[in-house]
Order: sequence, then C-alpha cells, then structure tokens
Amino acid sequence: KMLQGGAMGKTLVFLGTGGTIAGKAAFAQDNVGYTAAQLGVAQLLEGVSGLESAVEGCTVEHEQVAQLDSKDMEHAVWSRLAQRIQAHLARDEVRAVLVTHGTDTLEETAFFLSQVLPASLLGDKPVVLTCAMRPATALTPDGPQNVLDAVRVALDAHARGVVAVCAGTIHAARYVQKSHPYRLDAFDSSDGGALGYVEEGRVRWVHECPVEGCDAPVPGLDQPSGWPRVEVVFSHAGANGATVRAMCASATLGAPAVRGLVVAGTGNGTVHRDLEAALVQAQQQGVHVVRTTRCAYGAVVPGAVSPFAVGQGLAPFKERIALMLQIMRG
Ligand code: SIN
Repeated sequence: KMLQGGAMGKTLVFLGTGGTIAGKAAFAQDNVGYTAAQLGVAQLLEGVSGLESAVEGCTVEHEQVAQLDSKDMEHAVWSRLAQRIQAHLARDEVRAVLVTHGTDTLEETAFFLSQVLPASLLGDKPVVLTCAMRPATALTPDGPQNVLDAVRVALDAHARGVVAVCAGTIHAARYVQKSHPYRLDAFDSSDGGALGYVEEGRVRWVHECPVEGCDAPVPGLDQPSGWPRVEVVFSHAGANGATVRAMCASATLGAPAVRGLVVAGTGNGTVHRDLEAALVQAQQQGVHVVRTTRCAYGAVVPGAVSPFAVGQGLAPFKERIALMLQIMRG
C-alpha cells in the first residue's frame, strides 16, 4: 500500500530515549569507556551536520521521553513511549516519528512498539528507531550518519510500520537483532533479511515494510507497574530447576507473581530434563510456559513431543514481550 495521508505531513518528530548515540567519553579515541545518555535529543540533533537539508523542508520537533542506557530500559518508559508516539502519529501534520535509542535493547523496544501501536496509524506513517555504537564524542561517531539515514527512511513513500535503521541497513521490528557487541554494523535481521538499504542518501528497498500493530487498545498498557511478570530462562549443559522454583516462590517474598516463563531451549527448543521438570511444575501451577530456541537464527519447528507450547517463532526476549501482551489481552 502506498502512503497517502502520512506522506502529506510536513513534521518529523524525534523522541529521545538516551543510548550511546547520546553518550559522551572523556577521550575522542574511547569507543567503549563512555557514559551513555548524556546529550539531550535537541543537542544530539544539533551535532548532525546536513540534517537541515536532509529533512527536505519538514519542521523538526523533538521531545525527551527518557534518558537512559538502554540496558536499563523499563516497562514504564515503553508505556510512555507508546503513548507519545501514538499521540504524534495521530496528528495530521506529522509524517513520521523517529526514536533515538541505545543499541542494547533496541530490538525489544522496536518489537514492543510494533505490537501495541495502532495498525491504522502504522500503515500510513513509519516509526523509525535509530542508534549508534560509538558515543557522540568519538573521533568518527556513527550516530550522525545513522540519524541522516533514518530521516531518509522516514521520508520515503514506501516506509511504514516500525523499523530500525543502523549502518545503512533497514530492519523490521520482528526480525532485528543485535548480533555484535562492538562493530558499527551491529544488527542483522535474522531469517527475515534486511528490508532495505540507505546508500548515499537513497533508499533501496528489497522487501515491503510489514505493518503489525493492533487497533484494539491493550488493557493496562498505561499502568506498567501492573504488567504481568514474564521471565526468560535458558536451557544449557548443567541446567537445573532451582532458578525456576525460586522465581515461582518469590511471590511469598513480596515480588510480583510469575505469570509466564519463556524458555530459550537448545536446538529445536529442547530443554534439560531437570529444568523441564521445574517448568512442568510451574505450568501445573498456572504459569504460562512457552519454548523458543537459543539459536540466533530460525524458529522452533513444531512436531516434537514437549509439554510446552511453541511461541510465535520469535527470539526469546521478543517472545517474552509477546507472552506478556497475550496475558494482558486475556
Ligand atoms: C545503550 O544501549 O543504551 C548503550 C549501548 C549502545 O547504545 O550501543
């Protein structure tokens, strides 16, 4: 579907959340010993030379939704981010929303947004997340180029849904994953393949942008403290059930009750027998258990005998979000 309404908007809204893109180091040569989330989004944009011409006459607005290292991402920030994006997308004059974010949990935020924002808005206007692997103070920072590339994508007539742009590659929210702790090109799109590329300011699509989203509001989305507790556990050599048993018993110590467990299984979603026994016990107590694979590519192929349901074929941390939303939707 070609864009109509969204393509007519003349405002680009940047929402800042922190990350390395807003990070500062004491020395320009230092690409790892920095502090993330130091520059506000306004200051960050001031450092992007060429932004004024890249936005092609659009008005740029910015808003600081959070200021954190994305390893510390909280459900409360997700809730607020979703609210602010929805409010901006609903404005006729807004063409697209761009989110500056840390790389570490970008894939989780992107997937979350792709599941909770209204499909009717995402089908018309894109939400583009971008980031950087080097702080703003680096000798050669990657943030400014990523912002310019994200703007090109945001203005492109074929852009829609929730996408991430990093190192000249456009990724879909469902498939994007951080696959390297250091390289500038730190993301891949797993089995989904990249949606496209930004080359010298031109966007080259290789796949249509998928639009997920949901027009029915998610009950309780604006009350993040009440979101169901869903944990991820890994199966591995020497795994045992103690962690799962402790998590399930933690409600007696005042922690929220565990409502769901996503197990990142070995290979085709297999689970060490001792961990499996604890998960079966949890399931009998009413905890939702979903199995995934800890492999970076592919999804569990259903068919093998297992006491646990196969999820949506997502990476474990995205499956956690899917299960949380499924529980919220009842
Ligand atoms: C973060 O995720 O906020 C820090 C790391 C990064 O952005 O690369």
